[in-house]
Formats: sequence, structure tokens, C-alpha cells
Amino acid sequence: YVIGVDLGTSAVKTLLVAQDGTVKAEATREYPLYHEKSGWSEQEPEDWVAATLESLKELAAQSGVSPEDIEGLSFSGQMHGLVLLDQNNAPVRRAILWNDTRTTEQCREIERTLGDKLLSITRNPALEGFTLPKILWVRQHEPQSFAKASRFVLPKDYVRYRLTGEIHMDLSDAAGTLMLDVANKRWSPEVLSAFGLAAAFCPPLVEAGGFVGTLNAASAEATGLAPATRVFAGGADNACGAIGAGILKPGLTLCSIGTSGVVLTYEADASADYAGKVHFFNHGKENAFYAMGVTLAAGYSLSWFRNTFAKGESFDSFLAGVGDIAPGSEGLLFTPYLVGERTPHADANIRGSFIGMDGSHTRAHFARAVMEGITFSLHESVDIFRQAGKTVDTIVSIGGGAKNPVWLQMQADIFGAEVVALENEQGPGLGAAMLAATGCGWFPSLDACADTFVKRSRSYRPDPARSARYAELFGVYKQVYAQTKGLNE
Ligand code: XUL
Repeated sequence: YVIGVDLGTSAVKTLLVAQDGTVKAEATREYPLYHEKSGWSEQEPEDWVAATLESLKELAAQSGVSPEDIEGLSFSGQMHGLVLLDQNNAPVRRAILWNDTRTTEQCREIERTLGDKLLSITRNPALEGFTLPKILWVRQHEPQSFAKASRFVLPKDYVRYRLTGEIHMDLSDAAGTLMLDVANKRWSPEVLSAFGLAAAFCPPLVEAGGFVGTLNAASAEATGLAPATRVFAGGADNACGAIGAGILKPGLTLCSIGTSGVVLTYEADASADYAGKVHFFNHGKENAFYAMGVTLAAGYSLSWFRNTFAKGESFDSFLAGVGDIAPGSEGLLFTPYLVGERTPHADANIRGSFIGMDGSHTRAHFARAVMEGITFSLHESVDIFRQAGKTVDTIVSIGGGAKNPVWLQMQADIFGAEVVALENEQGPGLGAAMLAATGCGWFPSLDACADTFVKRSRSYRPDPARSARYAELFGVYKQVYAQTKGLNE
């Protein structure tokens, strides 16, 4: 057996996975988020550690598997969060998370200081969520905390350190710091010196599948796992989500609709140029990369609509009539900018809209329009990939968006691509388990592991007439951003 630990934003989920890829047991522990001021989002690193240890203990106990039969463990982690450590490796303050937006000023400073180098070295624009702006914020606003900090890590790196005593950062997560030379897989001396940061401030880099050590005595005792359990570095949650969905070769794209939504496409090398319109990060598979666009309020838009207008109703009953309505929701169109947008607009202030309301529209029309609007927003990322010359013809769909057949068919029709759903989909935790399984030598490569672990179920093909209708409506959808920008400010 191997274990995948998925350190998420609201909870940690651990999976115990057998050699044939089946999940034998799972356990979850939640932890709080702290929003002390508007736009702030923080977590207590000690909460992650306690929740991970408890979850591993429950996993080991409930599975009935002997600890000696659990060979390896690896991680998937929420990206970008800043954990500053003092010289004894204790956190100097709470972690500042990916969804914290206090750093707009620092982003502008990074753009001014680095100019064109920002994109050529880090391959990404400066966004509030990324790590470097958070480091600059702490240095400016909390100089006493910053003076104590001798190094930084990302969330899962801190948990891994507490489990093993070893400090590392993997390339797929380091790619989200804005300090990595993404194509050359090393900390960028130019970026570090531009902001007066010492090389020792950055942890040693490893591959996501890299072996980093075994469990220390304290964590073995707290969890009941064997001290010989081998620990592999693990990767960013989006990279692990891609691994867990088998996005490991050219031609494959992932659509993940959770609270936020992601469209991510495999890149065999770093040559693609999206001009910073989408993120470009190192993959969890060695020497590979991925490009990714993000819709901030994807599943969140549908949950918001259900909770506001059909509280208490199950999603199944709430969505029951949606399949009977024709594409386009009879003129009703929704933009999912409930909390601003990231791709393609990177605009924290834009807000959503319904347009084209008509006296004949029912609640089901609104629900369908919300699903269409979310999918149009994700299609903007697909469109950016295609405009840069990328072929997007097979999309593996995971998350809440893959639970409903009407939505899966809608994705195929809007994306104009074959959409594939998975059997017993497990998300990033399975990707983490696959890194451990491959690291333990069960398979010669992650690709071979995916052949056994990732099982496709149904496939949805675009219908030409519906696709043509959606292509027309997408043209209308794209105009709404410019037409509504500024109206609510
Ligand atoms: C990616 C991002 C989120 C986090 C969530 O850039 O900010 O998807 O990875 O953990």
C-alpha cells in the first residue's frame, strides 16, 4: 500500500491505495481559515500538522492493514501559501494563503522591478495569490516577523518537514512562487537579487517524485505508521490533480470544476508561449510542464445559486429540469464573476451578471444559465490554448462538474472536444499516491502507474448543432466582461 495526503484549503484528506490502484480507506480532518481583515486568508501551520497526523492515524487504524505493508507516502498541497520559518524551523506567523488578496501593491512593485524578466524567467504574471508578493508584504508591514525568518516553505513542505525532519520544496509547487526559473528548474538568481533575498532563504529543490526520507519517531508514534515508511516530496494540488487524471502526455487536457475551476493542458517542454495569459508551471512528472487557466467562482457559482434560491434541495433534484432546456437557456446568459475573475481577465473587482431575463424563464433556466456561464468562462482558457496553436481534443473532466451527465455533455458541446469522465475519481490525493507508488518502484514511470490507477468511464462527444449554437453564444458571452466592467465600481 501507499498513502496520498491531500493538504487542501479546508481539510486534509488521506487515501490508502493498493497496488492495483483501488482505494482501500480514506480519512478527512478539517481545519479553520482565518479572515481577520477583508481580503485576508490565513491558516495555522500547526493545525495542518495536527489534522494530518490525526487523519493518518485514523486511516491506518480503520483500514486494518499492517503498518509494515504501507511502503510509501506522498503529498498534494494547496499552492502558493507562505510559511516563514525561523532558524529553528518554527513558523514566525500564520501562513498567508493562495486566496488572500492583500498584495496588490506588491504585485505592481514586482512588475516595475522585473519588467519583461518577470514573464521570461517565472513564466507567469504577478498575481496577489502567488508567494513572492506575500514575502514582500510581510517584509514591509511586519518587519519584526520578517527579521526572524531565515527561510520560507509552502504548506505541504511544512507538513512534510514535521513528518520527516527534512526541508525541501518540489518544482511543481516552487513554480507558483514567482521566484523559480521555470524552464531551467532552479531558483532565479535575478529575481532573488532584485528583491534582496538570500539564496539560503529558498529551500533545496527536488522533483515531486523525489525520495526525501522516512517518518521520524514522533510522527510514526503519533500515526501508528512504521518508521521505515518512505516519504516522497509530492506536488502542487493542480499538478497532482493532473497526475491523478492521467494528464501525462501531449494532447491531454484536464477540466476540474470544484469551488474554483481549472483548465490545464499538458506541455512536454517549456517552449509554448501564452504571453502570461494563462499560468505556466512545472508538472509533477519530471521535465514536463502544464499551462493552466483559472475560473475563481466555478462550482461556487452553482452552490451560491442553489443555496440562495433552493436552500436544502439536493443538487440532483435542483438540476432535474436542466437537461430539458435547449442550449442557450432561451436567451438567459450568466457571467460567473461572483468573486472577481482570474483567467483571462485577472480582475478582482468585476462582478457577475444575468442578462436577457424574460418572463418565461423558470428557475431551471437560471440553473442551466449558471452552468453554461461557468463553462464559457473555462472555455476562455481552452480558447487561449487553441489560439496559441495547441490542439485540445480530449479533455478529462473531474470534480463537481463531472458528476452530472448534462454538464459533461455541455462541456463537450462548449469546448468542442471529447470529454471523458473517470471511474471512482479521487482528485489530487490519488496523484500524490501515484507519486509514492512510482517512487516505491511499483511502476517504471508515472505513465505506467496511470495505466493501472486511472480508469476512464464514459466519454461525451460534441454534437455539431449544439456546438455551433454555443460558439455563437460564446461570442456574446465574451462581450459581457467589457460591457459590465466598471458598472458596479
Ligand atoms: C492555483 C491556485 C489554486 C490553489 C488551490 O494557482 O491558486 O488552484 O492551488 O490550492
